[in-house]
Amino acid sequence: MQIAIDGPAGAGKSTIAKRLAGESGYIYVDTGAMYRAMALFLLRQGVSPDDREGIERACSDADITIKYIDGEQNVILNGENVNGLIRTREVSNMASVSSVNGKVRKKLVALQQRLAATEDVVMDGRDIGTVVLPGADVKIFLTASPAVRAKRRYDELTAKGEACDIKAVEKEIIERDERDMTREISPLKQAEDAIVVDTSDMDIDEVVDTIRNLISQLC
Ligand code: CDP
Repeated sequence: MQIAIDGPAGAGKSTIAKRLAGESGYIYVDTGAMYRAMALFLLRQGVSPDDREGIERACSDADITIKYIDGEQNVILNGENVNGLIRTREVSNMASVSSVNGKVRKKLVALQQRLAATEDVVMDGRDIGTVVLPGADVKIFLTASPAVRAKRRYDELTAKGEACDIKAVEKEIIERDERDMTREISPLKQAEDAIVVDTSDMDIDEVVDTIRNLISQLC
């Protein structure tokens, strides 16, 4: 069983995917966390976001795997568990720049496909329904207005103690979406057979109910 959830930053993909996976006993695969781990590696190597060749050269030295601890996905970068280090704005922005690179994507897509080959999965990202799991049983395109998505991300960052300005967060989200939607390889786009769920005016329970109903209708 494969459930693919794609959409822009802050649409609620990971919260919803985690809940759905927990209810169904499937594995939750957060593909963004893998791109984030790669971004952290590149930042640590001192590679600049606009150094395409540097990204291309350095990415081969990053060994990224995932490990489930108490049902939670943990990303392991060259042997180190980096789960607690990949949710900063700096890493978000570097992830959206470095994920444009074909070599980075090839490596991580292969890992994602290997996971889905052996387990029932709820997988979220940008290219799951279009590239990673084109034959997924259910494809959801989760979205919300930029203002709502920025507010959610702002609340998340301030709750963690990261000082930020909501307008700056909204600007970064819009820039990241633009980059994700216009890149050449595997851009963020709705798969032809995906169902759009706009969560702007929905709370988490409403979104989970909506998707649960769609899954039971389709499967
Ligand atoms: O949580 P949020 O939606 O802000 O981001 P994320 O899902 O953790 O993804 C971070 C970045 O990784 C995105 O902005 C994309 O550029 C990239 N990404 C990707 O290219 N393909 C995926 N399947 C998942 C993430």
